[in-house]
Amino acid sequence: MPDPPAPVVELVETRALVIGIGAGHPDQVTVEAINAMRRVDVFLVADKGPEAADLVAIRTEVLRRHVTGQPRLVTVPDPARERSPRDYAKAVDDWHAARAVAYRQAIRDQLPGGGTVGFLVWGDPSLYDSTIRVLDQVGVPYDVVPGVSSVQVLAARHRLVLNRVGEAVTVTTGRRLLEAVHAGRDNLVVMLDGSLACADLDVDGWDIWWGANLGTPDEVLVAGPLGAVLEEIRKARDAAKQSRGWVMDTYLLRRRPR
Ligand SMILES: C[S@@+](CC[C@H](N)C(=O)[O-])C[C@H]1O[C@@H](n2cnc3c(N)ncnc32)[C@H](O)[C@@H]1O
Repeated sequence: MPDPPAPVVELVETRALVIGIGAGHPDQVTVEAINAMRRVDVFLVADKGPEAADLVAIRTEVLRRHVTGQPRLVTVPDPARERSPRDYAKAVDDWHAARAVAYRQAIRDQLPGGGTVGFLVWGDPSLYDSTIRVLDQVGVPYDVVPGVSSVQVLAARHRLVLNRVGEAVTVTTGRRLLEAVHAGRDNLVVMLDGSLACADLDVDGWDIWWGANLGTPDEVLVAGPLGAVLEEIRKARDAAKQSRGWVMDTYLLRRRPR
């Protein structure tokens, strides 16, 4: 007699918790996040290769600090991503779809009888993070716990209010900085900028408040008129990258009154 077909394990008994863990320092984890972590049966972490090993290590440290026992942390190889695609939006959609397949399989493998799966999201899950979009495709119900974002840490370290009175704040990426500047935006928070796109602006027209590896022991801050501090930022950025192998930086640009 052939074996009966294996039962299809649906994910109906599974819930997910998307938990913001702050931007690098384990003290920046909220009490709500800690309580959520304590309800998780298994944490899934995208494995983005050796260069991102530090980011897995920081998550491990967050769990060590805040969760008793031996939390299960499982790495899921991150699907390859086209880095310079002709159609950026489609490439990102394909990558998210591949991630959803990988997460779904990992949940089936790790929680065959159901349970709570946790995703520890860098900073806050609402800012330039794909976990929520991917989970919509995985098809598990989920809740989101906010985290302290790198933008908040940047503002706090520089003792800044991001907007001048009554003005708007635009959060954007290095890739789209020029577009926002041309649209007349005055207060720009720039993230995901691999090559200091602000160097292409009229450097006499802006002030900058810059921060790299915020919350980590290698945190660096520089602020001043863009033209006067750009070189210092470039050097500090290179040095941070050399010492740790990676650098994450965020900055506020503010248009000077004309
Ligand atoms: C994929 S986004 C994730 C943002 C994250 N969800 C948040 O709330 O901060 C990564 C970008 O966030 C910024 N970032 C994250 N952590 C940072 C840190 N510790 N210091 C400075 N910038 C950081 C950088 O602009 C980086 O390129």
